[in-house]
Amino acid sequence: MILLLGATGYVGKEFERVLSLRGIKLKSLRRAQIDYTSAPHLRAYLAANRPDFIINAAGFTGKPNVDACELQKEETMQGNVHFPKMLAEVCAELGIPWGHVSSGCIFSGCFVEQGGKWIAEKNMSRDYIRKIALNEPSRLKGFDESFTPNFSFSDGPCSYYSGTKALGEEAIKGIGSHYVWRLRIPFSGTNNPRNYLTKIQTYSKVYDNLNSLSHLEDFANACINCWLNHVPYGTYNVTNPGFISTRQVVDMVKKILKIDRDFVFWESDEEFYRLAAKTLRSNCILDSSKLLCAGITMRSVEEALADSLSRWE
Ligand SMILES: NC(=O)c1ccc[n+]([C@@H]2O[C@H](COP(=O)([O-])OP(=O)(O)OC[C@H]3O[C@@H](n4cnc5c(N)ncnc54)[C@H](OP(=O)(O)O)[C@@H]3O)[C@@H](O)[C@H]2O)c1
Repeated sequence: MILLLGATGYVGKEFERVLSLRGIKLKSLRRAQIDYTSAPHLRAYLAANRPDFIINAAGFTGKPNVDACELQKEETMQGNVHFPKMLAEVCAELGIPWGHVSSGCIFSGCFVEQGGKWIAEKNMSRDYIRKIALNEPSRLKGFDESFTPNFSFSDGPCSYYSGTKALGEEAIKGIGSHYVWRLRIPFSGTNNPRNYLTKIQTYSKVYDNLNSLSHLEDFANACINCWLNHVPYGTYNVTNPGFISTRQVVDMVKKILKIDRDFVFWESDEEFYRLAAKTLRSNCILDSSKLLCAGITMRSVEEALADSLSRWE
């Protein structure tokens, strides 16, 4: 039996849906039933129910977006650092393997090929990066799992949310047997205020940047397959291979959903941060080849986006 924590959330609900579709025995635990963020309650529940594996889709994300975490620092730290650390310790004590949903937002930028060398560029908004992305995309590559997060409290500046997600990974390092699955800007074919494809269609002005993305169902399947296929424990960037700009996504949305209106974009980062965002946003490319080399398949980001939009509901 798999135990799912955070099943009432956006990501947790998708795990619940995919696990039941695949006929995998599952128990979902809500804090309203048992406060699984309290070590004694969690320990007693696990000792009595002995799950084979735990998926941790619980965490504090901030509503409606990460700006809220700047005002709810205690809850953000508790949900993203103290809770996963406690979960890691209790699981290690009881010998239960588990997987933790982390985030790709602990990175900023990408690598750029210049004169035969790969140089790290932290600022994705620079004009030369956009030009290379458009004309010579093979000269850009993402961060793989060997790189230390560079949008974090120890390599800032960063948002408070991203800082805690990076610290959460640090806090569980080396404790027991677990996966760290990095999710990045989830999207799917189902209209939902948390879906990137819905957000793009509802923003009054769209923020354009380059990013790697995760199709939510592909993400959930990939994580479950890590466990079922005995992939070695460790950290995995669970993104659809490749990267895409928001403008390219908007073009796909307009074409496939046949939307005949102009989308308005923020003119610059300066305007976006002055008028719309309270804290810094991460924009980054992630390299998912470790996951692919472990035998887990993921569609390209373009294919997953086209598929989501062609099934839009
Ligand atoms: N959505 C994204 O864009 C995104 C992107 C990258 C990574 N992630 C990560 O994915 C995980 C799930 O995110 P989500 O978008 O599904 O979040 P969500 O919709 O807010 O759901 C999180 C769930 O976690 C549980 N929870 C446990 N402790 C909590 C706490 N202190 N504060 C709030 N909720 C708590 C709640 O379930 P119960 O109380 O019912 O048990 C809640 O429904 C998080 O770790 C997040 O950092 C999300």
